[in-house]
Amino acid sequence: MIDIHTHILPNIDDGSQDAEDSLAQLSAMKAGGIKRAYLTSHYFRGHYQYEREVYNKKLAELTAKVKEAGIGIELLPGFEVFLQQDILHDIKEQSLTLGNSPYVLIESELNGLPDDFYNNIYPLLRAGYKPILAHAERYVSIMRKPSIAESLTHRNIYIQTNAGSLLGHYGEKVMKTAWTLVNNGWTHFIASDDHVRGDYGAYFEARDLIENKIDHYTADLLCRIYPGYIASGETIPYQYVHVHHPRPKRRNWFKRLFA
Ligand SMILES: [Fe+2]
Repeated sequence: MIDIHTHILPNIDDGSQDAEDSLAQLSAMKAGGIKRAYLTSHYFRGHYQYEREVYNKKLAELTAKVKEAGIGIELLPGFEVFLQQDILHDIKEQSLTLGNSPYVLIESELNGLPDDFYNNIYPLLRAGYKPILAHAERYVSIMRKPSIAESLTHRNIYIQTNAGSLLGHYGEKVMKTAWTLVNNGWTHFIASDDHVRGDYGAYFEARDLIENKIDHYTADLLCRIYPGYIASGETIPYQYVHVHHPRPKRRNWFKRLFA
């Protein structure tokens, strides 16, 4: 399994504040079957803003510690980029992508996707980047109307869902929305968004729940296959489930007559 959204790199954002905690979390991840993790620290102009060299140095330090501790987990660079006007400049200058791929994990205002959301995301698409909207189920506008996530996939935006959302960690509404996304095939990745504030179990629990409620293939697709395509370069389809909506049954003339 591969986790594409974590805040495990210590002392760079609101995630891990201690390398020892990060190592303990990475051991737990490895023990549960995670083979690769993208360390997607927040990149938010004016809040979590740093030079790429600073990030690289921290990543190299943690990677060395992971090797020393014998934890066989691959760590790849990544960022959770807050979508703002002209953010393309920073993405280009600082290579704020998932590893060497064209995929960019983005976040926006949780209280509703702002009016300029599309205006800010189109330049990324035009420049050849592949945006992934982080924890789509947590946006108020998507909670109100989950099919917005489907429209996003039609505009070449990938969707990521948090494991904790499927377990109800962010409340009932988020949980309901997360399942709607998974059930309809409106999400491409399950990730932990782990901030090293508790244990890592949610990812594995969510994966097992998808397997029980839907099937093994869907769980594998969202936790291993599609996340793996980010590094391998294979194409991830924007739409991969074709839901058949049966037409409502018409009552026969006799029933209609006496209804
Ligand atoms: Fe995050």
